[in-house]
Amino acid sequence: MLDFYEVIKRRCSIHKFKSDMIPEETLIRILHAGTLAPNPRNTQPWEFIVVTDNDIKKRVADIKVSKTVQYFESIGTEAAMRRVKAGFADQQEAILSAPVVLVVCYKKDDDLHNYAGTWACIENIVLAAYAEGLGAITMAPRGEEEIKKVLNIPPDYGIASIVPIGFPDEKASFKPRIPVKDKIHMNKW
Ligand SMILES: Cc1cc2nc3c(=O)[nH]c(=O)nc-3n(C[C@H](O)[C@H](O)[C@H](O)COP(=O)(O)O)c2cc1C
Repeated sequence: MLDFYEVIKRRCSIHKFKSDMIPEETLIRILHAGTLAPNPRNTQPWEFIVVTDNDIKKRVADIKVSKTVQYFESIGTEAAMRRVKAGFADQQEAILSAPVVLVVCYKKDDDLHNYAGTWACIENIVLAAYAEGLGAITMAPRGEEEIKKVLNIPPDYGIASIVPIGFPDEKASFKPRIPVKDKIHMNKW
């Protein structure tokens, strides 16, 4: 098992996975790590849909990609249109190649607390996956309402993220970060 800071440093988004299945006990360990995250009043507002069925993955990927195209077209800037022209094959591949596509849901509430708690859970899941030698990516659930229908998600739940997980089949590169000292404000902004 990797040291905690090594896991954080090595984690980066993966868009291509080997077909090998994640052992069930590993997946349970990862999801259990998710449930240890801080969350509002310990209400544990998350639910996990573990998608392994290829037809369901395809339907989710098709919705996600078509809604992503629509979204970038609606932005309409040069950079956004370049992104549309380049296509979203990487998004499709992440969902279709992953042996497990985790759809992490949260109970809707009046503030963003359940959503925030569910994201804390997702971060634990992603870090635990890397500690286990797996890779993952957190994806925006574009086309959320359509995806909810495909997955039978109740109306009072939303999707926080679509998280393909599996053994990486690419060497993803680390994306540099702004130096932390440029983000720190002492006492007041
Ligand atoms: C809320 C959120 C939504 C994201 N949505 C997508 C997505 O829809 N598609 C995608 O390829 N990556 C998505 N990402 C991954 C980010 O692009 C990625 O984390 C970021 O570029 C930093 O790269 P790294 O994860 O490799 O460090 C998302 C990340 C977050 C936190």
